[in-house]
Amino acid sequence: MYKIGILIVIVSACFILGSSFIQKYDLAKSVARGKEAYASFCMNCHMEDGKGTDIFPPVAKTDYLKKPAKTLINIVLEGQSGEITVNTKKYNALMPAQAYLTDEQIADALNYIRNSFGNKITTPITPNQVKGLRQ
Ligand code: HEC
Repeated sequence: MYKIGILIVIVSACFILGSSFIQKYDLAKSVARGKEAYASFCMNCHMEDGKGTDIFPPVAKTDYLKKPAKTLINIVLEGQSGEITVNTKKYNALMPAQAYLTDEQIADALNYIRNSFGNKITTPITPNQVKGLRQ
């Protein structure tokens, strides 16, 4: 009887662990948090409507956000300078590195812009991916 009890405990522990592993990253919640992260850390330059300015490129409806997650994460972690083309327009300014943000803040801000302002990229960027790219 005692052994069966232990077995049940082990089986249910495995089940709980297993299901937390296969649980999908909640994109909707990340996007909701990302709205605030964007307002605090990105909006000054990329503007409230995401359309940027002559100097700061837009994050609204941009082809650039279709680039691999790694590229976008590195822009936030390492900054971005040198000429880039966003929606056929050339920009050449400097975005400072924002590595002081947490892995979650970076993932949330990117998930937010990738799913707002006319963009829809539903494969989430996760805090773990950000963590993996930190130097
Ligand atoms: C101080 C101004 C500034 C801030 C703050 C800033 N950026 Fe940028 N960002 C820029 C500039 C300038 C570029 C283009 C740099 C170049 O010309 O090479 C850029 C480029 C980008 C790009 C690639 C091009 C595009 O428009 O899609 C992405 C994506 C991006 N920023 C996301 C973010 C996110 C997310 C945040 C907040 C965590 C952020 N930026 C904060 C100035 C800023």
